[in-house]
This record gives sequence, structure tokens and C-alpha cells, in this order.
Amino acid sequence: MKIIQCKDYDEISTAAANEVARVIREKRRPVLGLATGSTPVGMYEKLVRMYGKGELDFSGVTSVNLDEYYPISPDNVQSYRYYMNNKLFDRVNIDKNNTYIPNGNAADPYDECAKYDSVLDSLGKIDLQVLGIGRNGHIGFNEPDESLYLGTHVTRLSDSTVKANSRFFSEGEKIPDRALTMGIGSIFKADKIILLASGDSKKDAVKQVLSGKLTTSCPATLLNLHPDVTLICDSDAM
Ligand code: PGA
Repeated sequence: MKIIQCKDYDEISTAAANEVARVIREKRRPVLGLATGSTPVGMYEKLVRMYGKGELDFSGVTSVNLDEYYPISPDNVQSYRYYMNNKLFDRVNIDKNNTYIPNGNAADPYDECAKYDSVLDSLGKIDLQVLGIGRNGHIGFNEPDESLYLGTHVTRLSDSTVKANSRFFSEGEKIPDRALTMGIGSIFKADKIILLASGDSKKDAVKQVLSGKLTTSCPATLLNLHPDVTLICDSDAM
């Protein structure tokens, strides 16, 4: 695993945005694997800025997101569809028909997972997958467990994840405890992965990733098996 150690969050965001920008410029029809959460917000801001300066063209880009809460409507401000529209898709020239996020409104979540896997299969491969890391070492919503899934699946969020996510919800608002998430196998199909970690709440998870051991109780440790992963982190997360 390569490591880019940054001095602060702004540097992480710049380094991550530069990786994404490079893939968009190099590939004719780039496929980006995108993540939500607080960590990639700065990266999206920088990408929008590059687009505004005429430095990036998203017209040929296809994107697949890692996960979505379930059940949730795409119009709900807490949904990851809303997040992606708001942070990136509505602010650049991407064709929204080419942006995929599991449908949190699907009547049958298992059917939706199978459909999402078909989408991933039809895209072939992801050129660059952006990942955050949970405090408990989850990637996407692949939560620590005795066994992990290869493909897209319905997952129950761990107490620690629900607690971590509660900061985005107002008091009294129901915090979803289920989600649809890409599996570890799909994440591993990406040519290249960047793993972003900022702040000391991620220190324990990052320590496990760098410990030289693999365990499904910290799913991000499995990334050590992928041939091209770059950890982009600040000194607090190290
Ligand atoms: P965060 O979430 O960026 O909001 O910390 C990361 C994750 O849970 O993958």
C-alpha cells in the first residue's frame, strides 16, 4: 500500500481531487467509484472548482457510488443520492443518466442489489475507486463481521456506524440502520483505489490497516491484498 501523508484535510482533498482529475483526463470513458460521508466533501469541492476553471470535462464520466441508506427517498436530504447531486452532479457537466447509486426507495432491496451488480458487471471495471474509512474500519457499508460479501447486499449498520452518522441528523430524526452497499469483491475490481482518512477518530482503523494483519473485523485491512491502493491521510489519522 502506498501512503501519501498530508499535513491537513485541505492537502488530502487536493491529493484526492488530483487523482480523480488524472483519471478523467487520461481515460476516454472513465468509470469512477465514488464515496459519500464527510471525508470526500473537500475533494468534491476541488473537482467542482477545476470544472469551473475549464480544467475538467465530466461529459464522458460514468460514476458508481458505494452505498445508500435503506429505505430512503432520493429526495431526502440525508440520502446519498441527494448528497451526490448537491456536492457534485448538479455542479458539473456529468450526464446524470450515467450516475449510479443503489436505489434506497426500491420495493425489494434484494432485487435492487442484484440489479446493482448487473450495472457493475455491465460497466466492466472501475478505473478509480474512492473510499473513506469508518471508525470501525468499514469500507462502503461493509461492516466488521465474521464473513464479508463479494457483491452488493443489504446490510444492518453497526451501532458505532449509526452513532457516527448521527452527527448528520437533527435531533429526533430517525437515523437509518440499514443500507445497500457494494461488496468487497466489487470494490476489489477497481484498477486503482484511494483510501482517504482524516482526523484522529480514524487513527485506530488506520493503525489496523497498516498493522500487516488481515481481518474481517476491520474490513479495510483486506485492501492490503489489492495491487494498487494509496492511503491519503493526515498526521492525525496516522
Ligand atoms: P466519514 O465516513 O467520511 O463521514 O468519516 C467515512 C466512512 O464511513 O466510510
